Amino acid sequence: MTFPFWVAGKPVTGGATADVRHSFDGSLAGAHFVPSTSDVEAAVQAAHDVRDEFATLPAHVRAGALDHVSRALGERSEEIAQLITAESGKPLKWARGEVGRAVSTFRWAAEEARRFSGELQRLDTDPGGTGRLALVRRVPRGPVLGITPFNFPLNLVAHKVAPAIAVGAPIVLKPAPATPLTALLLGEILAETDLPAGSWSILPVDNETSSRLVQDPRLPVVSFTGSVPVGWSIRDSVPRKHVALELGGNGAVLVCPDWTDLDFAAQRIATFAMYQAGQSCISVQRVYAHDSVFDALVEKVLSQVSALRTGDPRAEGVDVGPMINEDAAARVSSWVSSAVSAGGQLLTGGGRSGATFEPTVLADVPEDASVMADEVFGPVVSLIRVSSVEEGVARINASRFGLQAGVFTRDLPTAFSVSASLQVGGVLVGDVPSFRADQMPYGGVKDSGVGREGPASAMADFTEERVTVLTGLTL
Ligand code: SIN
Repeated sequence: MTFPFWVAGKPVTGGATADVRHSFDGSLAGAHFVPSTSDVEAAVQAAHDVRDEFATLPAHVRAGALDHVSRALGERSEEIAQLITAESGKPLKWARGEVGRAVSTFRWAAEEARRFSGELQRLDTDPGGTGRLALVRRVPRGPVLGITPFNFPLNLVAHKVAPAIAVGAPIVLKPAPATPLTALLLGEILAETDLPAGSWSILPVDNETSSRLVQDPRLPVVSFTGSVPVGWSIRDSVPRKHVALELGGNGAVLVCPDWTDLDFAAQRIATFAMYQAGQSCISVQRVYAHDSVFDALVEKVLSQVSALRTGDPRAEGVDVGPMINEDAAARVSSWVSSAVSAGGQLLTGGGRSGATFEPTVLADVPEDASVMADEVFGPVVSLIRVSSVEEGVARINASRFGLQAGVFTRDLPTAFSVSASLQVGGVLVGDVPSFRADQMPYGGVKDSGVGREGPASAMADFTEERVTVLTGLTL
């Protein structure tokens, strides 16, 4: 099937097409029509033209549309999961999970749209404000340019589109070139709503066109999820725009000496180091384990990793599929070789077949090796021995990234002090950093980005405060 793209809520076909291929075996996952320069211009102008009408659309219309999308995603969940798997190589079980999360993301945005009201501030706290009251409301900053990555072709799109609709900000969405089809299918569902023409467009354009969109003054908000260098270069190139960046991480876990359930810790570490072939910003990449638990943990992690099934992501029961393409797998392979040359021990894995990289466990890797210091974004985890909780915290913080971290402890004071000391956007106590509930604030510090996602947080981000002062009142 050749998917249309969407300009101002209308499907567009004709002209050039692009194929999307399955990364496991190169088979055709689908194709889409490619927007021309005039299609892109029409989408941006329509977003600009509709901005005032959309900002004042009643909340029940916006919330009703979001509820419809949530329901329809649920009704078409299996079809959509199959499409996510076909275009991204994500195993079906994770693709099904992603659809379930997108159902929740749209549902949460609908609920937040209904309660997004602002606040009252009394101003009679000084004589000059007698009889005065401020209404503090949030209004859209303007149309949003949403740019999304390949690793969650539906739910990270949902995290741009749903909050924009919830606040009445038009959105022009640019999905990842490798995985645009699920976003285009979402267009079919959005087109079933009563949202005004121009309030949303979905443009599978190349990165050069995307750079032009970033510069376009009619799109004053840019919300980008993707790689670190691209994200920061966007922000540096448009200092007067409002730019939110959700970038990479090198997710760390600290296993404290009081943690006794090493089977559970090992199962979570193995699963979430390798899920989606490691292609999640919060997958487990570095594990710092206290000396007293290190050896037992290593053994249990290896046993859990050996139980994972690697193969065709379309097959039921497969845990680990291919990476997004062969180049990505070759890069990970070279990083693992460098880590071993630098003195790291390869405990299991390390092999590559096409785009599939074997689940790989390393130990004693120097901190400056790429598999530790950079974002692996592949199925590779490094286990490191530490002699105290403080050492673990210091080594986690020595990174240039700070997205999420996990700490395995049952000791409340340790949990509090570690989460106060870690320089990250989120800390998971008793779990790995890979947990994300879609209503949570989600985002990072340092090189991992700026701003927070999650419907309520992104709605705040896409809007600014507007104060209306009422006078002559009896308060
Ligand atoms: C990401 O890779 O940044 C998103 C992770 C998630 O939503 O689970």
